Amino acid sequence: MIRANENYSKLKSSYLFADIAKRVNEHQKKNPEAIIIRMGIGDVTMALAPAVIKGFHEGVDEMAGDATFRGYGPEQGYAFLREKIAKNDFQDQGADISADEIFISDGAKCDTGNFQELFAQDIKVALPDPVYPAYLDTNVMAGRTGRYEDGRYSGIFYMDCLKENQFFPELPDEKVDLIYLCSPNNPTGSTMTKNELALWVSYARENRALILFDAAYESFIRDNELPRTIYEIEGAKEVAVEFRSFSKTAGFTGTRCGFTVVPKECMIFNTKGEKISLHALWNRRHSTKFNGVSYPVQKAAEAVYSKEGKVQIRQQIDYYLNNADIISKTIASLGFDYVGGKNSPYIWIDGADRDSWDFFDLLLTKAGVVCTPGAGFGRCGQNYIRISAFNSLENVTLAMERLKKALT
Ligand code: MLT
Repeated sequence: MIRANENYSKLKSSYLFADIAKRVNEHQKKNPEAIIIRMGIGDVTMALAPAVIKGFHEGVDEMAGDATFRGYGPEQGYAFLREKIAKNDFQDQGADISADEIFISDGAKCDTGNFQELFAQDIKVALPDPVYPAYLDTNVMAGRTGRYEDGRYSGIFYMDCLKENQFFPELPDEKVDLIYLCSPNNPTGSTMTKNELALWVSYARENRALILFDAAYESFIRDNELPRTIYEIEGAKEVAVEFRSFSKTAGFTGTRCGFTVVPKECMIFNTKGEKISLHALWNRRHSTKFNGVSYPVQKAAEAVYSKEGKVQIRQQIDYYLNNADIISKTIASLGFDYVGGKNSPYIWIDGADRDSWDFFDLLLTKAGVVCTPGAGFGRCGQNYIRISAFNSLENVTLAMERLKKALT
């Protein structure tokens, strides 16, 4: 008899964004004339930058001739892209990361979800609440939790992120083994300082723990005091893996490309306490289960680091940050508390005593605006909604006018 992985039955019936899409589609069906503005899932709306398109085309053209055609590439990614990333994203920031510590993939969602496969079943996982749901759901699928009750899975160490702690997790008062951190944060839009990150790096070093640091929104950082990579923190290379994505940085949500940094110094342990190279383990996993990102897509990603690419990408991010500013100001003018919207495309809004799904329904039905209900990210999001700045300026302006009417 073929038996199911019953850990799946512990999951909520559908993934957060699938659930939202279903509700929006039902509303649209009932109201075919409604013009809905989508500011829920953080999906980019601007076309790929011209430099990126040029790189993409060059890659496709090479595939059209026998002499330049490429079949299977290296599973870890082409050296031309890994070298550009190492230099531009790390070495130029003073972080000593080399090209062979970078693994190119089809995005940070897959990598942050897959990485937990490398660890024992009975490790203690620490997750912020609210949190990007893929971190939690993949640990549930892997059987690291008990049942879901009262908005939480047993077996997980939840780190409440609330106003009182500026929406950033505090060091655990018990020993944890695997720590998920995300900065600029999804969903709250808040950002960690170097000092805050340094506390976590020390904790991980003292407790032989590992940090999975999701920096998918790094390119939104405009404050030069904020760390751009966890490897700016001394000692982080021994205890941290970093995830990056071209999705939000360069509009690759539909193109798919990201990367994970696994430093060679980073060690995990067997039951005897002997060191095991995390780099070697991830390399084994990656080359067994993944066959590389397509050549044209890696050429397109390489173009992000060209002179023109850098300028064009920065303009795109500035455009979304301007949207974020408009949203933040509107929300403030309506009397709501919020966080984020600076150094981040997300605005995390305190609905006071409103339930987040009720708030979501209100905005959908009264304003035709889709947001993300905070409860979808965890119990601490129960009274919050998240608004994403990924849309056109015209739509954001219109959405804010509609919000003002619906909420005053
Ligand atoms: C989000 O809206 O939280 C993200 O866009 C989802 C993702 O990156 O997978």
